[in-house]
This record gives sequence, structure tokens and C-alpha cells, in this order.
Amino acid sequence: MADRDVVLEVNDLHTYFFNRRGVTKAVDGVSFSIREGETLGIVGESGCGKTMTALSLLRLVPKPAARIVSGEIILDGEDLVQMSNSEMRDVRGRKISMILQDPQTSLNPVFTIGNQLTEALGAHGRSGRRETWDKAVQALRNVRVAAPERRLEDYPHQMSGGMKQRVIGAIAVSASPKVIIADEPTTALDVTIQLQYLRLLKEIQAETGLAIIFITHDFGIVARMCDRVAVMYAGRIVEQADVRDLFNKPLHPYTQALMDSVPKMDRTDRLFAIDGQPPPLWDLPEGCRFAPRCGQARDICLTGYPAVTNHENNHLAACWMHHPEWNTGPE
Ligand SMILES: Nc1ncnc2c1ncn2[C@@H]1O[C@H](COP(=O)(O)OP(=O)(O)O)[C@@H](O)[C@H]1O
Ligand code: SF4
Ligand SMILES: [Mg+2]
Repeated sequence: MADRDVVLEVNDLHTYFFNRRGVTKAVDGVSFSIREGETLGIVGESGCGKTMTALSLLRLVPKPAARIVSGEIILDGEDLVQMSNSEMRDVRGRKISMILQDPQTSLNPVFTIGNQLTEALGAHGRSGRRETWDKAVQALRNVRVAAPERRLEDYPHQMSGGMKQRVIGAIAVSASPKVIIADEPTTALDVTIQLQYLRLLKEIQAETGLAIIFITHDFGIVARMCDRVAVMYAGRIVEQADVRDLFNKPLHPYTQALMDSVPKMDRTDRLFAIDGQPPPLWDLPEGCRFAPRCGQARDICLTGYPAVTNHENNHLAACWMHHPEWNTGPE
């Protein structure tokens, strides 16, 4: 994977909410990059800033409360943070796009599939009606929808969940974006739909070579889907590595705790849950944000946020344990 080009590079991104409570640091210094054809998983408990990171990349953070305060989002050589709204409208969909998992909420029930697909295709070019229709047929064929000509006349309710997802996939990739973001749905999906969705994403990627950012709180899905993983906690990435390295040798106690919460095949009891709560993002502690929940915390952990250390194979971690002072500093 190392010889492929980096398509997206995020540097020290900060996205804050400004409201009565004060400043909520939803994304607080996030950096990562992703290569062509690569799948990056972003994983972490609910509320740690995954969706806000995704919305920042699309420049769709809720207005007026939230704002990208600083940082860079370099896509294809251009910084999205610096773009005007109209430049950004052109980039969205065409170069970076989002694919929703829930087929029930992602298509408009009152328009045919043909309407919705040609709309998506037409918005990015000036081709004639006939030509756009032909492209729509091809787009459905690309995501392996049988009898695409007939399917274009259907309304969403006439299709199965899996079929609707294929249509959503066709819309998301219709303009050949470089990067697509797949965020976990807010409501639970049934397992079949979820598996169909994962398969669809992989098929699309194999055919187009696009980079995927896959957001989930489920480590099991990360293991199946991703090449590289970023673990988020309280607005920051606390560890990132190639999937295999992360699973073989997690360096951050939070990652270890999350991995212990992956359902085991031989267990029938409830998922292991990590004790305690993440800190409020409007009142963050000075030191390591995981310290109150960490079994290995020492006094040094409270002295400041741990700097990121770089281990073998570009495996990054932000934990005091990996600093030389760990053995010499206060216990
Ligand atoms: N509409 C909102 N208004 C104020 N704060 C918000 C809003 N949405 C999200 N946040 C804050 O941003 C944090 C990160 O949210 P989010 O990115 O949605 O988390 P995740 O996707 O990881 O579950 C939340 O913990 C919350 O503090
Ligand atoms: S810095 Fe300290 S408290 Fe934070 S995860 Fe590492 S050992 Fe635990
Ligand atoms: Mg979310």
C-alpha cells in the first residue's frame, strides 16, 4: 500500500462548538492521511468526535454553532479549509462524498431511482438527457443491479433494502470521487443490511480504487474492512496504525479496553463495556484524557497531554507509557 499516492491529508484539525456552555472541542487536533485505494477506520466510543471529523472534511459542520477553527484538509493538493463555499460545493460530491448506510432514510420516497440518479449525475456535467440516462444505466450496472433500465423507473419502496443500498452506492460514486466517507448510522441496522453494505463498499473500492474512511464504534467491523485504523478518544486520535499492528500490539490502554469490548464468538453474555465516561468536551482535563478510566495511570499522566510517539511501521500512540519519563517521572 505504501507506494500509492496520498489523496487526503488532515493536519491538526480543530472543530469547535460555541454555545452557552462555552467551547466544546469536538475535534481537537486531529491528523491523519489516507492513500488511494486504502480504507481507514475511525473508531471510538460515541461522542468522541468521529462524525464531526467527517462533517469537517465535507465542510458541513452544523451552523452557526460549530466552526472549523484551525488546521488543514488537503485533498488532491488543495486545502478545503481555505476554500470558499462555492468552491466547496463543487468539491463535495465530485471529489469527496459521503455514503449513508441506512437505505431507509437515504433515498427520497417520492422520486424514482432514475430521477435521483440522473440528478446526481447531471449536477456534475452538461451532458444531454439521453446521455445522462445512459450513464445512470451504466452506474447501476457498475454496482451490479440487474435489469438497470427497468430499475430506473422504480420508486424506492419497490426495492429491497440491499438493492436500495446499491443505488445509494451508485449515487455516491457517480462523479468518481477520490474519497468517500461511510459514517455509522444513528439507528441500528439489521445484520444482513450491514453485511450487504460492507460488501458493496469493498466491491466499489476494488473497481474504482477510491479511498474510504469508515467510521464505526465496532472493532469487529474494523478488523474486516480496514487497512489502517485511527482510534479516537475525546476529540483526539490516541492511536493509529495498520490494522494488523493495532490488533497484534495495541499501544494505548484505551485501544486495549475497546478491543476487550469486541464480542467474542464463544461468549453469549453482554458486550464488555468500559467503566466510566469520557470527559466532557467543554471541560477537558489538562493531562491524558483517558486517565480517570485508565488502570495504568500514574501521576505523570496528569501533568500534560502525552506527545505522540512513532513506533515501528508508522504506529502512532499518545500515551505517557511510551515516553522515557514514564520510568523516571512521578508515579
Ligand atoms: N449539535 C451539537 N451541538 C453541540 N455539541 C455537539 C453537537 N453535535 C455534537 N456535539 C459535540 O461534539 C461531540 C462529538 O460528536 P460526534 O462527532 O457526533 O461524536 P461521534 O460521532 O464520535 O459519536 C459530542 O460529544 C458533543 O459534545
Ligand atoms: S497516558 Fe497514562 S492515563 Fe493516559 S492512557 Fe497512557 S497510561 Fe493511561
Ligand atoms: Mg457519530
